[in-house]
Amino acid sequence: MTSPVRLALLGCGTVGSEVVRLLHEQSTDLAARIGAPLEIVGIAVRRLGRDRGALPVDEALFTTDALGLIKRDDVDVVIEVVGGIEPARGWLVEALRAGKSVVTANKALLAEDGAALHDAATEGRADLYYEASVAGAIPLLRPLRDSLHGDRVNRVTGIVNGTTNFILSAMDATGAGFAEALEEATELGYAEADPTADVEGFDAAAKAAILASLAFHTRITAADVHREGITEVTAADVASAKAMGCTIKLLCIAARGRDAAGSETVSVRVHPAMIPLTHPLASVGDAFNAVFVEAEAAGQLMFYGRGAGGAPTASAVLGDVVAVARNRLAGVRAASESAYADLAVRPMGEALTRYHVSLDVADRPGVLASVAGVFARHDVSIATVRQGSAGGGRPGSGDDAELVIVTHVAPDAALAATVGELHGLDIVRSVTSVLRVEGEA
Ligand SMILES: NC(=O)c1ccc[n+]([C@@H]2O[C@H](COP(=O)([O-])OP(=O)(O)OC[C@H]3O[C@@H](n4cnc5c(N)ncnc54)[C@H](OP(=O)(O)O)[C@@H]3O)[C@@H](O)[C@H]2O)c1
Repeated sequence: MTSPVRLALLGCGTVGSEVVRLLHEQSTDLAARIGAPLEIVGIAVRRLGRDRGALPVDEALFTTDALGLIKRDDVDVVIEVVGGIEPARGWLVEALRAGKSVVTANKALLAEDGAALHDAATEGRADLYYEASVAGAIPLLRPLRDSLHGDRVNRVTGIVNGTTNFILSAMDATGAGFAEALEEATELGYAEADPTADVEGFDAAAKAAILASLAFHTRITAADVHREGITEVTAADVASAKAMGCTIKLLCIAARGRDAAGSETVSVRVHPAMIPLTHPLASVGDAFNAVFVEAEAAGQLMFYGRGAGGAPTASAVLGDVVAVARNRLAGVRAASESAYADLAVRPMGEALTRYHVSLDVADRPGVLASVAGVFARHDVSIATVRQGSAGGGRPGSGDDAELVIVTHVAPDAALAATVGELHGLDIVRSVTSVLRVEGEA
């Protein structure tokens, strides 16, 4: 058989240790599929003495010198499952420039500075694969990067963070508040000790940037993504969504649009939103991920599965390793980044969506007309109004009342101006929540 394709593994934690296990368990099949065996020649970690269980690998392969490992002449492919911006960026740029193929799961780095990696890959004529960086085991990037290259993607809507989907699903199922659902997620191992990256939407925003870059052939970074997390979502919001036949999900939405001059643009945003129970993403529960792609000729496509976890993520890593190993043996390289469209990123203020606004108002005659007047002044058309008694008193009794207003589609800036003016009205005690509503009602 042909001489082995030699791998340097950077990181041997949750994902890395599963990569080692799968490489060992499936070595015969992988060799047959590639046409050459795969061989790990070194594993870089931070702590040499760490207990990693019974990994099927020689202890002598471990090193703390990642850069030294990458530079070795006997390394063909570098697998990076460490994470973070530095030193990972320096390592991968070094490897790619030296013509070594890279497989990485590092969404943070790709979203922050994917350009540095793509440029280095072009310079070194090396492959850069990163299927595991978005939605774990779900084959999603290669369908966008390859299978849909003959089509025109118009919109990508996804649930790409398992932790927040678990929390919102638990709130929906039990009526629990955010803090209680987060506690349950932490106990069950779905949320990290510091859940900020997940609950504040940073993780989803990084994935949104990667998806949008591939879908729209434009370099999008995490800084281009409008981001809101789920910490403000209340049990009352979830109940209100239910009353409307909706559920609340943290969505990543990347869509084509046009600016005032008619030029094509792209908008990329991550925020909680109500979606109708009939929407394909509404039934994605627990910590699952799903991405809904709308393309011109293909129509609607749905990708669903486990978006995280050691083994599912390692599955995506190994798929990429097989692809780059085959390319090396064939002496070819995959098509590089396609950013030719270079679309302008539309500001969030111009994003069009519907809104669900809850207000605590004085229960007096004329209040509804005053509130409706504010919406009209900002050209935000009201679709439905529901009125209840906030304090449990009789409507018209002078107690506070609750107004729930759902609008037709309006620009985000117009809604923000509406809410700003509502805050200033003396009849409005508080604007208790503002949520976007996505999908057809
Ligand atoms: N976990 C998931 O479900 C998942 C899903 C999709 C993508 N990802 C991505 O996969 C990557 C790895 O995630 P993970 O969950 O496997 O992380 P992890 O469990 O924290 O493992 C990180 C590994 O990197 C090593 N490391 C850290 N700093 C290092 C340094 N300076 N030099 C050499 N090695 C270093 C650590 O060494 P020690 O073992 O010695 O500490 C550890 O082995 C991240 O980019 C993450 O975003 C993870």
